[in-house]
Amino acid sequence: MTVLIAPSILSADFARLADEAAAVRGADWLHVDVMDNHFVPNLTLGLPVVQSLHAATDIPLDCHLMIDDPDRWAVGYAEAGAYNVTVHAEAVRDPVTMAVDLRAAGATAGLSLKPDTELDDWVDVLPSYDTLLVMTVEPGFGGQEFLAHTLDKVRRARRMVQTGHLRVVVQVDGGINADTVVQAAEAGADCFVAGSAVYGSPDRAAAVADLRRRAEA
Ligand code: DX5
Ligand code: ZN
Repeated sequence: MTVLIAPSILSADFARLADEAAAVRGADWLHVDVMDNHFVPNLTLGLPVVQSLHAATDIPLDCHLMIDDPDRWAVGYAEAGAYNVTVHAEAVRDPVTMAVDLRAAGATAGLSLKPDTELDDWVDVLPSYDTLLVMTVEPGFGGQEFLAHTLDKVRRARRMVQTGHLRVVVQVDGGINADTVVQAAEAGADCFVAGSAVYGSPDRAAAVADLRRRAEA
């Protein structure tokens, strides 16, 4: 299985975003957390920053929209140049149309589930998506502790993808570090978002390489 490592710029220095994007050499995607202070109790960045970041870096942008009303806003992120745009299952109104629209706008489509959101309720729409993001913390903040009970959802997601012969990336986000990356990989994840584990390290490229080595082992 190809492993994807996606450093989250939530833990980066927002005054130096282009440099911080360049610092994660060897990473596959740059994870961009968009928060609106409604869907989650935190506020980060929006479309203009994504547009500028897209112009300033070659790394594919993985936009994780923790916002209300993604049906209205998500396509704008695809048009801004995002490689993948992920919306939350708890917020999206028409998940199949959402995925179709994102793909038509040139992005891959991701669906994210909060820790207490059941996977079973989303089985039918999964084939419309390219990425399934299993949140391993409550969305809203970096630097939280990994919730081990979410590993069961990762296992079931991997099984579902395998038995359905789906081409869906199983992504984990939240509390991923040198230990939990191994647990998540064993459970079947193939894409790993890491904020503090990468940007909290003095050598970001080395931190990316270390996570990859552990996930591949
Ligand atoms: C949390 C965000 C995460 C966050 C992860 O709501 O979705 O992407 O940046 O940060 P760490 O890796 O520090 O838990
Ligand atoms: Zn995220």
